[in-house]
Amino acid sequence: MEYILGCKGFIILLGVTFVISYEFAKGEIISGQKSSYIGRKVNHLNSNGNVVKSIQSEDGDIIDCVCIYKQPAFDHPALKDHIIQMTPTYDPNGKTVTTGSADTETSTTVMASQIWRKNGSCPEGTIPVRRIHNSNSFEGYGRKQPSFYHRVKQLNDIKQPNLQQPNHSKAILLTVGYMFSGAKGDIKVWNPFVESDDEYSTSRVSLQSGPYYDFESIESGWAVNPRVYGDRKTRLFVYWTADASKTTGCFDVTCPGFVQVSNEIALGAAIYPISNPNGLPYQITIYLFKDPDTGNWWMQYGEKINVGYWPPKLFSLLPSGAESAEWGGEVYSSKLENPPHTATAMGNGHFPDYISGNSGSVKRIRILDNSRTLKFPEWVYSYTDQYNCYGVDYVGDYIVDPEFYFGGPGRNHLCP
Ligand SMILES: *[C@@H]1O[C@H](CO)[C@@H](O)[C@H](O)[C@H]1NC(C)=O
Ligand SMILES: *[C@@H]1O[C@H](CO)[C@@H](O)[C@H](O)[C@H]1NC(C)=O
Repeated sequence: MEYILGCKGFIILLGVTFVISYEFAKGEIISGQKSSYIGRKVNHLNSNGNVVKSIQSEDGDIIDCVCIYKQPAFDHPALKDHIIQMTPTYDPNGKTVTTGSADTETSTTVMASQIWRKNGSCPEGTIPVRRIHNSNSFEGYGRKQPSFYHRVKQLNDIKQPNLQQPNHSKAILLTVGYMFSGAKGDIKVWNPFVESDDEYSTSRVSLQSGPYYDFESIESGWAVNPRVYGDRKTRLFVYWTADASKTTGCFDVTCPGFVQVSNEIALGAAIYPISNPNGLPYQITIYLFKDPDTGNWWMQYGEKINVGYWPPKLFSLLPSGAESAEWGGEVYSSKLENPPHTATAMGNGHFPDYISGNSGSVKRIRILDNSRTLKFPEWVYSYTDQYNCYGVDYVGDYIVDPEFYFGGPGRNHLCP
């Protein structure tokens, strides 16, 4: 017989006909489609009551199923009286126009999943939270190093963008415009080499607003980030900052901010399978979009799982929309300026390769703007700050739906 602690602190006896407190989830959390707002429980329960179940994943992770009202987000002062939104108020994929034929919206590659799901699932009313080992819970844990991001201020300047940030190298596709309310893409999943523990490599979709010294951003994709995750596996992440990572922001739910609602996806959990050059191309579909009614910025995974959202109260500019969107890779290292360059790879460590597909890539690149239709951006610019180390290849001609290839090995004979 299995004993599981319910969200109200009651023991639930599985396999026995009487179940004491599981109705909690049914009555209070699971509700109708639209405007499914639920007031957050005010009473604080003892900490034991917050973890309903723990799942030991075969990759070594422990996933705790935490009561949805007890998640870290609510420790944020701005979210004290936050009301959880269980589902977006509309289907953001509903009205879709494509640049080409309709079937381009159907993905031809295989969706990657998460390893822990082989070993159990979290009950409704809870969210899966990857357990963090005490050794990496230092101050500022999970926050990126500050980045002063010299962003393009006007569309006219775009031919000479200055996107360079110290200790960051990017190879991205960029669009700038007026108040985007969503960005989406299919990101191929790889496991690039990361040289030192204080470096990372990510492939992601990102939205930003604000001046370079104080920008706000939200992003999601996959990351190899030993400092945050304690190993070199490829993991699903979300990240936000409201001040260029100076004092705010973090990965996943390692600090208060992101409100998770899905019981299916664990942020920070390992993704599998990983693509391999001779095998199937695995990818993740990430969609960041703003809920027009609540202003919450949602992260949707794999076309249908609404993982959670960033409430507008975390930001001052993003609530009115994002000024720019980016797709592609970022490497963080202190060994980018002077030789020897870091050997931390981006994408899968190969330079962009449209023909074989053996490199980092983003497909089905879409933005959501005022027209409220998902579409390929009207204008894009591919950018890399170290083309001998990490490359870009925007494939826009002779192809129905433009694709973006990026990445590289870092250190090599051209990038000593
Ligand atoms: C997880 O699931 C796999 C596949 O079903 C199984 O082989 C493995 O023993 C399980 N691991 C744990 C820790 O339960
Ligand atoms: C880059 O990283 C090095 C080493 O961690 C650090 O000393 C330096 O301050 C960083 N530079 C900037 C501008 O953040």
